[in-house]
Parts: sequence; structure tokens; C-alpha cells
Amino acid sequence: MRRNPLAAFSDSARRPRAILWSGVILVGIAVFSAVSVIGTSVNWFCTDPCHIVHEDNTKTVMAGTHSQVNCVACHEPVNANPLIFILKKIEVAPDAIPTILGTFNLPMNENNFVAVQMADLHCTQCHSLATRMVTPSDGIIIDHDMHTASGVTCPTCHNRVAHPEENVEYTLPEDEKHENWMMMDACFRCHDLEPGGQAPGRCGACHPAKFDLVPPSHDAAGWYAAFGESRGHADAAEAEATAVAEATSRTAEWPEIERAVGPVLAPVSTVNTCHTCHLNSFCADCHGVEIPHPQAFYSAHGQAGLADPAACARCHARSAGESKGTQFCSACHHPQGRPGEAWLPQHNGTVRMEGADRCFECHDPQYCETCHVSGKEAADAWMRANAR
Ligand code: HEC
Ligand code: HEC
Ligand code: HEC
Ligand code: HEC
Ligand code: HEC
Ligand code: HEC
Ligand code: HEC
Ligand code: HEC
Ligand code: HEC
Ligand code: HEC
Ligand code: HEC
Repeated sequence: MRRNPLAAFSDSARRPRAILWSGVILVGIAVFSAVSVIGTSVNWFCTDPCHIVHEDNTKTVMAGTHSQVNCVACHEPVNANPLIFILKKIEVAPDAIPTILGTFNLPMNENNFVAVQMADLHCTQCHSLATRMVTPSDGIIIDHDMHTASGVTCPTCHNRVAHPEENVEYTLPEDEKHENWMMMDACFRCHDLEPGGQAPGRCGACHPAKFDLVPPSHDAAGWYAAFGESRGHADAAEAEATAVAEATSRTAEWPEIERAVGPVLAPVSTVNTCHTCHLNSFCADCHGVEIPHPQAFYSAHGQAGLADPAACARCHARSAGESKGTQFCSACHHPQGRPGEAWLPQHNGTVRMEGADRCFECHDPQYCETCHVSGKEAADAWMRANAR
């Protein structure tokens, strides 16, 4: 025979006890739920039982301005009804398994998808930009309304606000630090100096007039000097181009990452730092020629050099003296000569010491004769006519 569980309620003798026990059970469930929800929402729960997982994140929170703010204020839905809130808790419950087994993924939050997916509401529940005066650091201009209007969320820039990593040593060996999207390079994921970008890149958009626009890297010895050591900027430019190419080649992996974690933003490492401050034409105008030189250039460099020697001297002259006329050609062609001194008065000494065989790798004997017989002007004309 099936027992009717509600039978006790129709029996007047058992009814008071049934009501009492029902009440006790309901209160028990309510207390348990409240304790679980509150208990799993305090920082202690996020940090201590999950200590190993969140050791690094807790350290960074403690180092920042949000150390007194609950983890859940930013990491759970805002003002959600209790049901959604509980469902969210149940949804993440399986995370307990990798936590206990120590098999969670590291580094944490690679590609910063947590910031990309966090809504404005997480921040605006405490910070109303309508009522708060924003006082940016000296030299920085920011227009919050314009970004909100364009759908750019707070953590798209303030991604490390609660987790500053600069002065924190990470404990978990495989954990890695993240890009900080408050840096200028990060603004240039959207802003662009070249015309036609999504947002303006001119310095005045983000910096006031008296701001010192030259970064410290440029003051280093060897960065650039006319006819002096200029390798500094060249090495920095090459290192940057290599890093950007490497980061960009990994964009092929994005669709897969997005399938796993949802949308991510282009990493800052795909932004070329040099071109946050310099138009491509700034480099090209000074170089005057394509760098590195294209293959076809080599076989025609003589003509190009004679046509505009000053354009080559900028890089190939080893001194101001060698930048006059075509003397820089000798930096490569007559390396036996003393740098900075004209080659003509030296060539006879070299021929006497080494003989003229090597000279004829480039020079036709006719060339030497033209000069020796008809003078320098005839030789220059010959050179101009015969350089390839
Ligand atoms: C003021 C908001 C806020 C608070 C409070 C906060 N976080 Fe975060 N948290 C964020 C944001 C924003 C990110 C995304 C960072 C990114 O993608 O670069 C994040 C990222 C994380 C990550 C991913 C790893 C990382 O460092 O990017 C973990 C784990 C995390 N938080 C845990 C916690 C824990 C644990 C607490 C409490 C001790 C906490 N958070 C408090 C906003 C917050
Ligand atoms: C629970 C409330 C709360 C939440 C949620 C919160 N903040 Fe804050 N925030 C504070 C408090 C408190 C301070 C420290 C006092 C102050 O400067 O107003 C602060 C400070 C700041 C500062 C200035 C100090 C600094 O470190 O630069 C910024 C910027 C900021 N919060 C941005 C954010 C962003 C972005 C989010 C969302 C990811 C967020 N906050 C979420 C309460 C909150
Ligand atoms: C496009 C990037 C960007 C976005 C998006 C953005 N901010 Fe900011 N925010 C900045 C910059 C840059 C500063 C100035 C930082 C400085 O002082 O160097 C700033 C300053 C602030 C400050 C003042 C900090 C202080 O010390 O006074 C607060 C608060 C703040 N933002 C909150 C927010 C909130 C809330 C949102 C989302 C509604 C948001 N920001 C969206 C870039 C952004
Ligand atoms: C996700 C894209 C995005 C990022 C990242 C971003 N911005 Fe913007 N920004 C925009 C857009 C879009 C506009 C509006 C352009 C328009 O409508 O002309 C804008 C406009 C601005 C303006 C107003 C420019 C004007 O017209 O005078 C300032 C100032 C600004 N951003 C500063 C910043 C700073 C500082 C950062 C980095 C901390 C930053 N932005 C990062 C998208 C972005
Ligand atoms: C979209 C906004 C934005 C634009 C446009 C912008 N900057 Fe910046 N810049 C920033 C922010 C934000 C910082 C502070 C964070 C940092 O140090 O990267 C900064 C910092 C700097 C610094 C000091 C940090 C360093 O790298 O030494 C220099 C110098 C600078 N900018 C030069 C320029 C020049 C030159 C231009 C124009 C060609 C320019 N900026 C255009 C946002 C911008
Ligand atoms: C934060 C802005 C900023 C960044 C980033 C930047 N530059 Fe510059 N750079 C400047 C400014 C400003 C000048 C001075 C321009 C002028 O005088 O017209 C300058 C000048 C130069 C010059 C001319 C020589 C000199 O020092 O005056 C060279 C060469 C140069 N930059 C190369 C580079 C290379 C290569 C990179 C990348 C590795 C780079 N710059 C990144 C702002 C920047
Ligand atoms: C003021 C003139 C000037 C400006 C502006 C300039 N460069 Fe240069 N660049 C030179 C000189 C001179 C050399 C030769 C340096 C050497 O090898 O000693 C050079 C060499 C280079 C090289 C080495 C080429 C190779 O094949 O080895 C690279 C790369 C380079 N520059 C990149 C840049 C970039 C990128 C910019 C713009 C952000 C820039 N330069 C702006 C003068 C300039
Ligand atoms: C950066 C070094 C460099 C500079 C500067 C340079 N050259 Fe050359 N040039 C070479 C090299 C290397 C060769 C190939 C030599 C060989 O084949 O053995 C060459 C070959 C030539 C040849 C072909 C010789 C032949 O094999 O018939 C001519 C003509 C020539 N250069 C003209 C010039 C002139 C004119 C200038 C100055 C305006 C100049 N070069 C500057 C490196 C240079
Ligand atoms: C902005 C600097 C720059 C300018 C301007 C420049 N070059 Fe070069 N050139 C280089 C650098 C750096 C190299 C060596 C690396 C490479 O192969 O690109 C080079 C290599 C060469 C070589 C090959 C040398 C060899 O040993 O194989 C020749 C030839 C040459 N340049 C000729 C010229 C001539 C001619 C001009 C003028 C029309 C010129 N270059 C302008 C930077 C410059
Ligand atoms: C790699 C090719 C090359 C070799 C090898 C070479 N030269 Fe030249 N030489 C040139 C070029 C190119 C010029 C034209 C540059 C100029 O007008 O200054 C030149 C110019 C000259 C000039 C005229 C300089 C002036 O100021 O008008 C003399 C003299 C000369 N070479 C002698 C020699 C002698 C001697 C040798 C052997 C020791 C030699 N060259 C080896 C390429 C070469
Ligand atoms: C631009 C004109 C010019 C060209 C081209 C030229 N020479 Fe000369 N050469 C001279 C002059 C001028 C002298 C005398 C130099 C001196 O005594 O200072 C000289 C002297 C010499 C001497 C020494 C002669 C002596 O009697 O002491 C030799 C050897 C020589 N040249 C070889 C060559 C060879 C080889 C070439 C071709 C590869 C060449 N020259 C091309 C102008 C030229």
C-alpha cells in the first residue's frame, strides 16, 4: 500500500507536529541556502579553500585599491535574482574537481577573456561616472562618455584595476602576468595614427599641449645620430617588427580560443609600438629608400646612388666628411681607404701595395685610363655612363 505523505496533515492528532516539523525543515533549508550563498560569496571562500588556485589573484587584489571589495561584486552577475545567483553557483560547482585534484589550467586567464566578458554594470554599481569627477594623471586626457557611447566597456581599459601585477611575485610557477590595457599601446588596438582608423591617434587627442612627447628610449646613446651610431632605433624597430609578426601569426588560433572561452580582443602585442607615435611616412621620408633594400635594388644601386647621393650618405657615410658627394661609395668599395678621407689621393698607395687586380672586379681598365689620360671629369662622366 502506498503511504500518502500528506496523510499526517489530515489527521487532526498529528497535524500540529507535522506543521512544526515542516516549519523546521523549511527554516533549515532557508538557513542552509543563505549560509551557502553568503558563505560561497565571501572572499574567504574564494581565496582560502581554493587557496592554491587563487593564491596569485588574491595577492594582486590585496596589492590594489579594491582589496576591501568582495570578489563576487565583480565576478558574479550584478543584482541578479536569487535563482540566477544560485544557478550561477551550481554552474561553477564542477570547478571544484580540478581545484581539489590540482589539475586547473595555467596560466590563468590567458588572452584576458575575463576582462572582455565583464560588463560595465560590474563597475558602475559602485562608480557612477555621471556624478564622479574623473581626475586623470598629469598629461592624460580621457573621454569616458565617448567610449561608453561606442560600446567600449570599463574593463577594456581598466582590466587590471583590481589585480595590479607590477609589484607582485607570482607563486604558481606556470602562472603568467597579463597585458595592462591602460598603457598607450593598448589604446592603439582601436586608435590609429594613419587616417581612416576607428579613433584618432594624434597626440593631442590624449595629451595636453605641454606634455613631453619623446619617450626615454630615444635619449639612449646610439638611438640615432646623423653620421653617427644609429643602430639603436634600427635594432628596436627590428625587434618590434619581429614580435608583432610573431603575435600576429598566432591570430590563426583565435577562432579556436573563442570557441573555448568566448570573444577575445586582439592582444596588445599585435600593435607596433613605433607606429603608435610615427606615421609610416616618418620613417620612409628619412630613409629615402626602402629598408631592407629589395633584391632588385642591389643590381641598380650604382645608378640610384649617383642620382641622389645624399639619400644614401645618410646611412652609408661613416662621417660628415664621407657624406660629401659620392665619397660614401668608398665606404663599401674601397674599404682599404682611411674612413672620412677622400679616396682619390689614397688610391695610388693601395695599388702600389696590393696591385690593381682587385680594382678590376669593378672597374674597367678604360675607367682608370680615362682619368689618367683625360682627367677626373672625363672619369666621372665615364662612371655615370657605365654604372649599372
Ligand atoms: C573590482 C573588480 C574585481 C574584484 C573585486 C576582483 N576581481 Fe578578479 N578580475 C577582475 C577583472 C576585471 C579581471 C580580468 C583581468 C584581465 O582579463 O586582464 C579579473 C580576473 C580575475 C581572474 C583571472 C586571472 C587574472 O589575474 O586575470 C581570477 C582568477 C580572479 N579575477 C579572481 C578574483 C578573486 C579571487 C578575487 C577576490 C579576492 C577577485 N578576483 C576580485 C575584477 C575584479
Ligand atoms: C563594490 C564596489 C566597487 C566595485 C564593484 C568596483 N569598484 Fe572601483 N573602487 C571602489 C572603491 C571603494 C575604490 C577606492 C576609492 C576610490 O577611489 O573611489 C575604487 C577605486 C577605483 C579606481 C581608482 C583607483 C585605481 O586603482 O585606479 C578606479 C579606476 C576604479 N575603482 C575602477 C573600477 C572598475 C573599472 C571596476 C569594474 C571592473 C570597479 N572599479 C569596480 C569600489 C568599487
Ligand atoms: C578607453 C579606455 C577607458 C574606458 C573604456 C574607461 N576608462 Fe576609466 N579611465 C581611463 C583613463 C585613461 C583614466 C585616467 C587614468 C589615469 O589617471 O592615468 C581613467 C580614469 C578613471 C577613473 C578615475 C581614477 C582616479 O584615480 O580618479 C575612474 C573612477 C574610472 N576611470 C572608472 C571607469 C569606469 C567606471 C568605466 C566604465 C563605465 C571606465 N572608467 C571606462 C580609461 C578608460
Ligand atoms: C576598444 C576600442 C578603444 C580602445 C581600447 C580605446 N579607445 Fe579611445 N576611442 C574609441 C572610440 C570608438 C572613440 C570615438 C571615436 C569617434 O567617435 O571619433 C574613442 C575616442 C577617444 C577620445 C576622444 C578623442 C577625440 O575625438 O578627441 C579619447 C581622448 C580617447 N578615446 C582616449 C583613449 C585612451 C587614453 C585609451 C587607452 C587607455 C583609449 N582611448 C582606448 C575606442 C577605443
Ligand atoms: C588614444 C590615446 C593616446 C594617444 C592618441 C597618444 N597617447 Fe601617448 N599615452 C597614452 C596613455 C594612456 C599613456 C600613459 C600610459 C603609458 O605610459 O603607456 C601615454 C603615455 C605616453 C608617453 C609616456 C610613456 C612613454 O612611453 O614613455 C609618451 C612619451 C607619449 N604617450 C607620447 C605620445 C605621442 C608622441 C603621441 C602622438 C604621436 C601620443 N602619445 C598619442 C595615450 C595616448
Ligand atoms: C611614445 C611615442 C614614441 C614611440 C613609441 C616611438 N617614438 Fe620615435 N620619436 C617620438 C618623438 C616625439 C620624436 C621626435 C619627433 C620630431 O622631432 O619630429 C621621435 C623621433 C624618432 C626618430 C628621429 C631621431 C630622434 O631621436 O629624434 C627616430 C629614428 C625614431 N623616433 C624611431 C623610433 C622607432 C624605431 C620606434 C619604435 C621602436 C619609435 N621611434 C617609437 C616618439 C615616439
Ligand atoms: C632621422 C632619420 C631616420 C628616421 C626618422 C628613421 N630612421 Fe631608421 N635608419 C636611419 C639610419 C641612419 C639608419 C642606418 C643605421 C645603421 O645601420 O647604422 C637606419 C636604419 C634602420 C633600420 C635597419 C635596416 C637594416 O636593414 O638593417 C631599420 C629597421 C630602421 N631604420 C627602422 C626605422 C623605423 C621603423 C623608423 C620609423 C619609426 C625609422 N627607422 C626612422 C635613419 C632614420
Ligand atoms: C653599402 C655598400 C655599398 C655602397 C654604399 C655602394 N656600393 Fe656599389 N657595390 C657594393 C657591392 C657589395 C657590390 C658588388 C661588388 C662585387 O660584385 O664584388 C657593388 C657593385 C657596384 C657596381 C658594379 C661593379 C661591377 O661589378 O661591375 C657599381 C657600378 C657600383 N657598385 C656603383 C656604386 C656607386 C656609384 C656607389 C655610390 C653612389 C655605390 N656603388 C655604393 C656595395 C656598395
Ligand atoms: C636608411 C638607411 C639606408 C639608406 C638611406 C640606404 N641604405 Fe643601403 N643599406 C642600409 C643597410 C642597413 C644595409 C645593410 C643591410 C641590408 O642589406 O639591408 C644596406 C645595404 C646596402 C647595400 C648592400 C651592401 C652589401 O655589402 O651587400 C648596398 C649596395 C646599398 N645598401 C646601397 C645603397 C644605396 C646606393 C643607397 C642610396 C640610393 C642606399 N643604400 C641607401 C641602409 C641604408
Ligand atoms: C666593389 C667595386 C669597386 C672596387 C673593387 C674598386 N672600386 Fe674604385 N670605384 C668604385 C665605384 C662605384 C666608384 C665611383 C664612386 C665615386 O664616384 O666616388 C669608384 C671610384 C674610384 C675612383 C675615383 C674616385 C673619385 O673620387 O673620383 C678611383 C680613383 C678608384 N675608384 C680607384 C680604385 C682602385 C685603385 C681600386 C683597387 C684598389 C678600386 N677603385 C676598387 C667601385 C670599386
Ligand atoms: C679620378 C681620376 C682617377 C681615376 C679614375 C684613377 N686615377 Fe689613378 N691617379 C689619379 C691621380 C690624380 C693620380 C696622382 C695621385 C697622386 O700622386 O696623388 C693617380 C695615381 C695613380 C697611381 C700612381 C701612379 C704613380 O706614378 O705614382 C696608380 C698606380 C693609379 N693611379 C692607379 C689607378 C688605377 C688602377 C685606377 C683604376 C682602377 C685609377 N688609378 C683610376 C687619378 C685617377
